[in-house]
Amino acid sequence: MQKPYIVAIDGPAGAGKSTLAKRLAKALNIAYNDTGAMYRACALYAIESGISPKVDSEELRKLLKTAEIDFRTVSEEQKIFLNGADVSLKIREPHISTGASDISAIPYVRDLLVTMQRNMATGKSVLMDGRDIGTNVFPNADVKIYLTAAVEERAKRRFEELREKGDSSTYETVLAEMISRDENDKNRAYAPLKQAEDAELIDTTNLNLEESFDALYQYTLKKLQTK
Ligand code: DC
Repeated sequence: MQKPYIVAIDGPAGAGKSTLAKRLAKALNIAYNDTGAMYRACALYAIESGISPKVDSEELRKLLKTAEIDFRTVSEEQKIFLNGADVSLKIREPHISTGASDISAIPYVRDLLVTMQRNMATGKSVLMDGRDIGTNVFPNADVKIYLTAAVEERAKRRFEELREKGDSSTYETVLAEMISRDENDKNRAYAPLKQAEDAELIDTTNLNLEESFDALYQYTLKKLQTK
């Protein structure tokens, strides 16, 4: 049997990361961890408790100490639970996306979640996606991929996804929100979004889902074979 291994997939919002990562984890038959969902769950918890996700306050730290975050598979779908409640849908609302980007710039929050993420991978193979997996959470990951696409294309995909869910946001709003989130994620002082030196760059601007998956899958298999 192969020794446990880590696949790290990083990149900006809307590059197709979570859809592709989920599918790749399934094809490899390993656990999948959507770390963005963890930042979203923290933002949701703060906002619902009336605490700003932008400020590193005593109240925020105290609150997050009581956050129990776990992933569970329900009817073959991965769901995220916050203190026992399924928050998988709530964390996808646009105001939570902004809150997650804000809260993720707070070093205290990052350290808390990075510790949880490392613990979640103990003794087993895991595919994790996020912004700092290959650079910070698992700098020694066996496979590192930086998945990106042009911001207009990413906004178009996110806009269509939201529209299908019945959300009435305009393309312009989605694009503006994405540009601002990119700025936030790339320019924060602590563990910003950036491509690890040894990560493979995959740009999906001109690739459909199948082609993107193929690029990820082939690269991952090649890397694992030479391990
Ligand atoms: O991948 P996502 O859009 O669900 O992530 C939500 C926010 O969380 C994103 O704006 C940046 C932050 N994030 C992070 O800073 N580090 C990670 N490993 C994952 C997400």
